[in-house]
Amino acid sequence: MSGQQRELDPRGQSDTRLTAGVFDVLKSPGHLLIDGEFVPAASGRVFDVVNPANERVIATVAEADVEDVDRAVKAARRAFDDATWGRMPPAERGRVMWRLADLIEQHAEDFAQLDSLDNGKPVAAARAGDVPIAVGVFRYYAGWATKITGETNTLSWPGDWLAYTRREAVGVVAQIIPWNFPLVSAAWKLAPALATGNTVVLKTAEQTPLSAILLSRLILEAGFPRGVVNILSGFGEKAGAAMAAHAGVDKISFTGSTSVGRTILRAAADNLKKVTLELGGKSPVLVFDDADLDLTIPGVAQAIFSNQGEVCTAGSRLYIHERVFDRVVEGVAEIADKLKLGDGLNEDTQMGPLVSNEQLQRVASYVDVGRKEGAEVVAGGKRVGDIGYFMAPTVFANATSGMRIVREEIFGPVVCAMPFKKEDVDAVISEANDTPYGLAASVWSRDVSMAHKVAHRLRAGSVWINCHTVIDPAQTFGGFKQSGWGRELGEEALRSYTEVKAITAQL
Ligand code: NAI
Ligand code: MG
Repeated sequence: MSGQQRELDPRGQSDTRLTAGVFDVLKSPGHLLIDGEFVPAASGRVFDVVNPANERVIATVAEADVEDVDRAVKAARRAFDDATWGRMPPAERGRVMWRLADLIEQHAEDFAQLDSLDNGKPVAAARAGDVPIAVGVFRYYAGWATKITGETNTLSWPGDWLAYTRREAVGVVAQIIPWNFPLVSAAWKLAPALATGNTVVLKTAEQTPLSAILLSRLILEAGFPRGVVNILSGFGEKAGAAMAAHAGVDKISFTGSTSVGRTILRAAADNLKKVTLELGGKSPVLVFDDADLDLTIPGVAQAIFSNQGEVCTAGSRLYIHERVFDRVVEGVAEIADKLKLGDGLNEDTQMGPLVSNEQLQRVASYVDVGRKEGAEVVAGGKRVGDIGYFMAPTVFANATSGMRIVREEIFGPVVCAMPFKKEDVDAVISEANDTPYGLAASVWSRDVSMAHKVAHRLRAGSVWINCHTVIDPAQTFGGFKQSGWGRELGEEALRSYTEVKAITAQL
C-alpha cells in the first residue's frame, strides 16, 4: 500500500472521537496470536491497514505466511491432543465462552469503532448490529456446550446390546473470514467450533484485521487454554492458501467469494478436509401489489443499502408488481438520494465508504456495465468525492434478466428493479430462481398464505417475509446451490463441527 498519506496523522492519533482502547490497538505492533502468545510473523513482515473513509494508513499488522500457519496449526493440534479444551467439563467451556461474550460487551464501543475504521461502516450500525450480534452468538453457543448429545439405538441382532452415538469435535479447524462483518464473522466461526471442543486457526481478511486484534487479547483474558484459539492476519493467496492446503487441518470453514470457495475446495481435496463454504449471493426481493408499502419501501431499500450493500444476502434483484412498480422504485430512489454518506465514525453517517479502492472500482465498473447494457440509472450511479471510497447508492430501472448487473454479484449499493404481473407469479418465481446462487430472498405481501407458498418455492437458504437480512443466532444461515455448503448459526452449525461416532457393545 505505498503512496498512502502516511505523513498526515497516520494513525489518527489526534482523532478525539476514538476511545483509548482503539488507540491502544492502532499503536500496537499487531502481532499474531499463536499458542497463547502474541508473536510477530516469522518473516518479520507487516502490512498496512487503511481507513477507507480517508485512504490513510491507520495501523500496521503482522503478515502471516506459510510458516506462521504451520506453527498455528501445530499449536492447535497440541491443544486438541492434550484435550485441555475438549475434555474440560462442558459447563466450564461454556463459562469461558460466556466470559468472552461479557468482555466483548464491555469493549463494545472499541469494537464498534474498530470495525468502522477498518471496514468503513457507520459506527452507529456497528454499535447497534455487529457488536450485539457477536456477543449474542458467543452466548448462544456457550449455552450449547452443555447440550451436545448423541442417541441410543436398538439393534436387531440376537443378544443384549448397548448401541449409542457420540458427537465429537472434528479436530483442528481452519477458518477464513471476509471483510464485510469482521467481528461478526469471527464470532460466527469461532463460537460453534469452540462450543463443540475443536481448536481453531482463524485468519482475518487483509482489509480488516483490527477488531480481531482486540478479540485476541480478550480471548486470552477470558481463559481459553493456550493453542485453542490462534488468530492470524494475512493475505488470502499466502496464509489463506496455506491453511486450505495444510495436511494438519481437519476442517476448513470459509466465507467469501464463490471463486475462492472453489479454490479452497480443490486445496481441501488432498487430505479430504471437511469443508463448509459461505459464498456469494444475488438475492431476489419480491414485492406484491398488496404489500404494505410504508413498510416495504424502507425495508427493500435497507435490504440493499445497509452495510454499503457489502452483504452476502443483499437484496440486489428487486422484482416489483407492475401496479406498484413506479411507487416502489421512486420511493427507493428517494431514500437512496437522501442517505447521508460520510466517514463511518461520524454519528450521523448512514452509509460509509466501500471497504477498498479495489471494491470501489469493481462496483463502479458494474454500474458502467449496467448503463451500457441499457438499464436506466434512477438514483446514484457514480462515485462520490475523490478521497475515500464512497459510492452513491444506485438504483437501476429497466433492468432485464439477461443483464450482467442482474446476474452477477456486485457486492455494493446497487439494486436492479424489474416489474412483473401478478398473473405471472410462476414466471417471477422462476426468474427469481434463475441464478447460480441461492443464499437468500424476501417476499413482501399482506397475503400470508401466498407469501408462505412463494417462500417454499424460492431456492434459497434464507427466505424472509416482510423483512430482509434478519439474523439471529437461533436461526440457521447458509446457501443453496453455488452460495455454499453447510450451515452456520443455530443447532445446524454444531453438526458441521462434530463427527458422529457409533459405539456398539455386546453385553
Ligand atoms: P475473497 O473471497 O478473495 O476474500 C475473502 C477471504 O478469503 C479473505 O480472508 C481472503 O484473505 C481469503 N482468500 C482470498 N484468496 C484466498 C485463497 N486463494 N485461499 C484462501 N483464502 C483466500 O473476496 P474479495 O476478493 O475480498 O472480494 C471479492 C468479491 O467476493 C466481492 O466483490 C464479493 O462479491 C465477494 N465476497 C463475498 C463475501 C460474502 O460474505 N459472501 C465476503 C467478501 C467478498
Ligand atoms: Mg479476492
